[in-house]
Amino acid sequence: MIFAQTDFILEAGPVLPVLSLQDDDRLLPMAEAIVAGGIKVFEVVLRTPTALEALKRLKGQVPILGVGTVLSPAQMAAAKDAGARFCVSPGWTPALHKSAQALHMPWLPGVATASEVMRGLDKGFKNLKFFPAERAGGPKALADFAAVFPGIRFCPTGGISAGNAGAYLANANVPCIGGSLATPKGLVAAQDWPGLEGHVRELVKSLTFAS
Ligand code: 3PG
Repeated sequence: MIFAQTDFILEAGPVLPVLSLQDDDRLLPMAEAIVAGGIKVFEVVLRTPTALEALKRLKGQVPILGVGTVLSPAQMAAAKDAGARFCVSPGWTPALHKSAQALHMPWLPGVATASEVMRGLDKGFKNLKFFPAERAGGPKALADFAAVFPGIRFCPTGGISAGNAGAYLANANVPCIGGSLATPKGLVAAQDWPGLEGHVRELVKSLTFAS
């Protein structure tokens, strides 16, 4: 079975922002600030009641739009209908795998152990999410994976900050990191969009040097 390509997710930039959004007035100015700061890819997570409505409103407003925290085939189908170009899940299930194949949906499933990476390898995956990154061993675990799984690349997420992101990106098997670090709660709550744009720009710049 040929897989929908997922390289574009990992290669869009050093940061994949994990965005828990509501469909409200903050949505478009926030997205504009993130894009202006230099991030092209968005992962809108299904953790709010209006996440899919938010996704529909963002469609066409940001370069690459995807959906995260996809836990069921029904959610993957809804994500596709709402305009998602890719899906991300914290783990892997046979049902989601089948559904990604049926929908030709680029899908980044999560792994945390060597056995889970080996199952991904068996199934033909080349790109995986590493979650929850800090608790599952951090950058050192990914360095160990590089030695035994040379063909697999990871997008680690979970507990990644501006302070530890560089250590992840120093691994050759980590083209990007993901997380909420791109959108500090304080800046979003204050609706400080120039501040958010500046924060994103600095983050992208520092992580581009780190990788
Ligand atoms: C994810 O969905 O990838 C994580 O929940 C992001 O974790 P963070 O908020 O610690 O970055």
